Amino acid sequence: MDTSTFKRLWEELHDIGRTEQGGYRRYAWSEADLACRNWFRRQAERRDMEVESDRNGNLYAWWGTWRTGEAVLTGSHFDSVPDGGAYDGPLGIVSAFLAVDVLREQGARPRRPIGIAAFTEEEGARFGVPCLGTRLMTGAIDPERARRLADADGATLGQAMEENNADAGVLGPDTERLAHLAAFVELHIEQGRALDAETAPVGVADAIRPHGRWRLTFTGEGNHAGTTLLPDRCDPMLTFAFTVLAARKEARLAGGVATVGRAEIDPGATNAIPGRVRAWLDARAPDEATLGQILTGLESKMHERAGRDGTLAAIETETQTGTVEFDPALRDRLATALGGAPTLPTGAGHDAGVLAAHIPTAMLFVRNRTGVSHAPAETATDDDCAAGVDALAAALRELAC
Ligand code: GLV
Ligand code: MN
Ligand code: MN
Repeated sequence: MDTSTFKRLWEELHDIGRTEQGGYRRYAWSEADLACRNWFRRQAERRDMEVESDRNGNLYAWWGTWRTGEAVLTGSHFDSVPDGGAYDGPLGIVSAFLAVDVLREQGARPRRPIGIAAFTEEEGARFGVPCLGTRLMTGAIDPERARRLADADGATLGQAMEENNADAGVLGPDTERLAHLAAFVELHIEQGRALDAETAPVGVADAIRPHGRWRLTFTGEGNHAGTTLLPDRCDPMLTFAFTVLAARKEARLAGGVATVGRAEIDPGATNAIPGRVRAWLDARAPDEATLGQILTGLESKMHERAGRDGTLAAIETETQTGTVEFDPALRDRLATALGGAPTLPTGAGHDAGVLAAHIPTAMLFVRNRTGVSHAPAETATDDDCAAGVDALAAALRELAC
């Protein structure tokens, strides 16, 4: 694919949900998300592809009719983390439309329907559960729980959908659709630098490492910052601060990673000892036993510290995902079709990881020279993105034509 063709379509999304810092806030069902969805509809129309939304708010554009065959699905997500980069998600959708163009220019006549998906709330940045659209579709989350998930302002997923004329009453497993999918291939920017050392701009995923999110609550006693003697305090901030450091240490000793990237201090006054701190832990590891070890170690240290601080500490699992091994036959078939592309694991979660338990699934990674992701500096070169489009077209040709 011509690099300038990629650039032209890519730049159409540039201003949607962009912040002053140059990052993106494209939360599910927000104005920015709707602008992206409208863009998706226009792209589909331009290509004479039929658009439909499923019962879970995921959008599809079809070349062919999925109900009549075993479809090959590609695509990704529009939503971002707070101040995320431009590429995580949208690259897979833009590349999918361009891959359809490449196939059509090549005169391809697919024997299987080809679909492009834009999945909802992949990052979990608004409602807290990542890959919500595919979890709902596969029955991995109870629809009633999903409907009641609330954002930071207290608006529920159900309300957000209704506001956008989407019926939240029908959320739930979509077994008919899954039964008609022969394969899913998600193209994604790489979120690390494993490909940097390789000559290939595109790699094929072989696994997603286990990961999860936990909600931490530290409860103490609000009091005056100037008049409360140190021995009289029950300061949850101390237990929280200790827990952040302990998470890092447990992860380092076990060989995983742990991050606390979000916290809420209640009430959040400079001259008051807080009454409560809530925080979210993200932990990942090469294998499930190691992830368990990090959590067990952290929990006992956190409670021991809470005892010393006169506070209460609680940990609740929000989501936990085991190791995902992508279909080895599909992985090898695509790596070969791409001329011997390298294979690599990832520490990031993806809708492909959820779908992999139900249908043969693969991922293509486009080289990210700095490795930065979930931040405004996330980038890939236009040349590498154009190579990604060619790779995705080759993958779709292999599977659908
Ligand atoms: C999603 O990108 C995640 O890995 O959290
Ligand atoms: Mn992401
Ligand atoms: Mn992503």
